[in-house]
Amino acid sequence: MTDTAIRIASMNKFYGNFHALKGIDLQIAKGEKVVICGPSGSGKSTLIRCINRLVEPTSGKVYLGNVELTRLSSSGLRRERRRMGMIFQEYALVERLTVMENVLSGRLGYVGFWRSYLRKFPQSDVDEAFRLLDRVDLAHMADKRADELSGGQRQSVAIARAVVGDPQILLFDELTSAMDNQTESTVVDRIREFSKNKTMIISTHRASLLSLVDRIVVMDDGRVIADGPKDKVLDALKRGLIKTGSPESFTGQS
Ligand SMILES: Nc1ncnc2c1ncn2[C@@H]1O[C@H](COP(=O)(O)OP(=O)(O)O)[C@@H](O)[C@H]1O
Ligand SMILES: [Mg+2]
Repeated sequence: MTDTAIRIASMNKFYGNFHALKGIDLQIAKGEKVVICGPSGSGKSTLIRCINRLVEPTSGKVYLGNVELTRLSSSGLRRERRRMGMIFQEYALVERLTVMENVLSGRLGYVGFWRSYLRKFPQSDVDEAFRLLDRVDLAHMADKRADELSGGQRQSVAIARAVVGDPQILLFDELTSAMDNQTESTVVDRIREFSKNKTMIISTHRASLLSLVDRIVVMDDGRVIADGPKDKVLDALKRGLIKTGSPESFTGQS
C-alpha cells in the first residue's frame, strides 16, 4: 500500500517539435486536493490529460498508487481510468442521449456515443445514477435529452457522470469556464460535497475554485515553477515572488 495517489516522474510531452511539458515531477497524496494554475499555454491541460493518457506523454511515468499507467495496454488503461472521474471540455455531454444515459456512460471509462447507446446497464448502476441525479436536483430530468438542459444543469450532469462508480481520483480541467456567478457557486458547492475523501486535481485560472483545494501548483512554459500549501503560494504570488509571465493569471479575479 502507498499513501501516494498519483506520481508523475520525469514527464515530457512534445507536440511535434514543440516541447509542451519539460520534465515534470509531481506527487499527490491520497485525499489531497490540488489546483494547477498558470498562464494560458503553460501546459495545464496537457499535464492533466497526460495523467489519464488522453494525451500520451512522450517520456516519463505516471503511477496510480502502485500501478504504472504508462505501461498499460488499452484494456488495462480502460480499467484504471474507471478509478478517475473527469470533466474535460472535449468530453462534453452527448446531446442525443438522455441525462440518465449520460451519467451512466461515466461507468464505462470515457466512451463515445455508440458504446454508451448500445450498452445495457445493470439495475444497480441505474439506481446509483438516479441517486446522484437526485443529489444534484435533476432526478426529474433523468429522461430528458441532454440538449434540453441549461448550462448549469449540464455542469451538474457532468459532475454526476464524473463521480458515478465512486472513483477515488477526480480530474477537472477548466470546469467552470463559462458560467454566471450563481451557477458557479452552486457548482463549487457540489464539487466540494462530491470530492470528500477523494483526491482531486483541478486546472483553472478562476479564484473561486481555490476554496476547494489545499495545495497550488503553478506552471509556466511547461514547467512547475511553484508548488506548495495554498496560503504560502498565494502569498508568494501576491508579493510577486513567483514570476508566471502573466501576473493576473491567478491573483484574485477570474
Ligand atoms: N494537440 C496539440 N498540438 C500542438 N500543440 C499543442 C496541442 N495541444 C496543446 N498544444 C500547445 O501546448 C502548449 C500547452 O497547451 P495546454 O496544455 O493546452 O496549456 P494550458 O492548458 O495551460 O493553456 C500550448 O502552447 C499549446 O498551443
Ligand atoms: Mg487548458
